[in-house]
Order: sequence, then structure tokens, then C-alpha cells
Amino acid sequence: MKVAVITGASAGLGKEFLKALPEACPEIEEYWLISRNREKLLDAARLVPKQCRVFPLDLTKDESYGKLSRYLAEFKPEISLLINNSGCGFLGDVGEGDLARQVQMVDLNLKGLTAVTHLCIPYIPRGGRIINISSIASFCPNARMTVYSATKSYVTAFTFGIAEELRAKGITATAVCPGPMDTDFIVAGGIKGNSKTFELLPYCDPAAVAKGALAASARGQTVYTPRVFYKFYRLLAKIAPTKLMMKASRT
Ligand SMILES: NC(=O)c1ccc[n+]([C@@H]2O[C@H](COP(=O)([O-])OP(=O)(O)OC[C@H]3O[C@@H](n4cnc5c(N)ncnc54)[C@H](OP(=O)(O)O)[C@@H]3O)[C@@H](O)[C@H]2O)c1
Repeated sequence: MKVAVITGASAGLGKEFLKALPEACPEIEEYWLISRNREKLLDAARLVPKQCRVFPLDLTKDESYGKLSRYLAEFKPEISLLINNSGCGFLGDVGEGDLARQVQMVDLNLKGLTAVTHLCIPYIPRGGRIINISSIASFCPNARMTVYSATKSYVTAFTFGIAEELRAKGITATAVCPGPMDTDFIVAGGIKGNSKTFELLPYCDPAAVAKGALAASARGQTVYTPRVFYKFYRLLAKIAPTKLMMKASRT
């Protein structure tokens, strides 16, 4: 049974993946949808005309990794596609506000993504693909979203690492680096209305990001950055001094 595992499938970009996948990957026979809220997952499952299993798991919690490990051992899926999409980002300086928020970004974007990938890889056959949702925030540190941008730098670097490790096994990994998208993320993160940069930046359409990411992954691309504007930003971040880039990219 060819399976797609999608974290953060209940909202935003995750739902757009669910809409795009049946056409982009018709070979997938079953979908495993993961996020915290069962009702939202069941609602999202209606978007997919194939069999879905929903797994309400909080990916910041160690006990969720044990549960996922047991589900994998029980069902032994052939994971054709893993999409690590769950993520959160909060605006605010380190040392101010709620510690729980800073730690939540590390636990979900970094620890959760690493754990899900580690547990799923043994079930990914030759020809399988991994898509990790990173961000333009991975290109250079963003003050006021320091922890978020650091976690996303990890996601992009981690993707390069596993792409190399998995090359001989015929498995690809793709880091997807979108700019801002108008999803719950920017409301939950306290970003909407509180960041001039976010108001000025061109937004990415989540439906286009999902389709572009699936196409880039099918080509075996290691990094996919939607929109010419952000491709240029990525290039600039590689050649310009970090401190200079940070002035322009302060959130
Ligand atoms: N929106 C942007 O501006 C933007 C820009 C660049 C990159 N991104 C990245 O894109 C990805 C998708 O974000 P989005 O914009 O679609 O945000 P979103 O609409 O807020 O969706 C986030 C998803 O993650 C799930 N999630 C949150 N906390 C979780 C947890 N502890 N355990 C498991 N799942 C959890 C949510 O479901 P539950 O709440 O039910 O758990 C939801 O399905 C994220 O990795 C984000 O960092 C977003």
C-alpha cells in the first residue's frame, strides 16, 4: 500500500497539499494525516478521494514519537511521500514574553520534524520522497523571529544532509522555502498587523506553493523557493554580508 504521510495536514499549506496530491501523485493509495486536532483532521480528510487515516499527535511531545513508531510497526506502510509541514512561528525578541512559545518553535519545527523523519525513513522505499517545509527565514537570521529563522535554517540544512545520506537508497529530500502566506500561521504567531516587513513583502499563494513543491520534489530538487523575488533574496543572502542582510530582513 503506497502511503503519503503529511504533518500539519489540518490547515493552511497542509490542506493545499491534500488538494494537489491526488492529481500530482495518483499512485498514492492511502493518506496518513497528522496534527493535534482530530476534528480538523477528519474535516481535511474529506478533501482526499482516497483512504485516509488520521493520527492526532502533538509533535512537540516525546510520547507522540512512541505512538507514531508503534503505528508504523503495526501497519508497515510503504511511504512514497513524507511531507513534514507542521510548524509554528512567533514574533518576539528572545528574553521577552512567554518562554513556552520560544521552546514550542524548537520542539515542533526542529525536534518534531527530526523525529518524524527518523521514524519514517525505514519505511520509505527506493523512489520515495521527503518534502520538508522550511521558509525564506532559513536564508538569513531574522531579528524579532530569531528562534523561528534558526529552526528553519536547521530544516534546510537537515534536508541537504538527509538528501546526501539517502541518495544511494534512491530517496530524495526537498526543502521548500516559501515567503509569507496568508494562513493561520501569521495570526497565531502574532505577526499580522505587527510587522512592517510582513506588510511589505509579496505573499505566496499556498495552493501554488504546494503544486510547485510537488513538482520540484518530482524533479529531485533539494531546495525549492517559490517566486522570483525570493529566489533573488536567497541568492543575495548567499553573497551579501549577514549583518547587512539582517538589516533588510528584520521582521
Ligand atoms: N504562513 C507563512 O507565512 C509561512 C511562511 C513560510 C513557511 N511557513 C511554514 O509552512 C508550514 C505550514 O504552515 P501554515 O502557514 O500552513 O500554518 P497553519 O495554517 O498554522 O498550519 C500549521 C499546521 O501545523 C499543525 N500543528 C501546529 N502545532 C502542531 C503540533 N504541536 N503538533 C502537530 N501539528 C501541529 C496545525 O494543526 P493543529 O493546530 O491541529 O495541530 C496545522 O495543521 C509551517 O512549517 C510554517 O513554518 C509558513
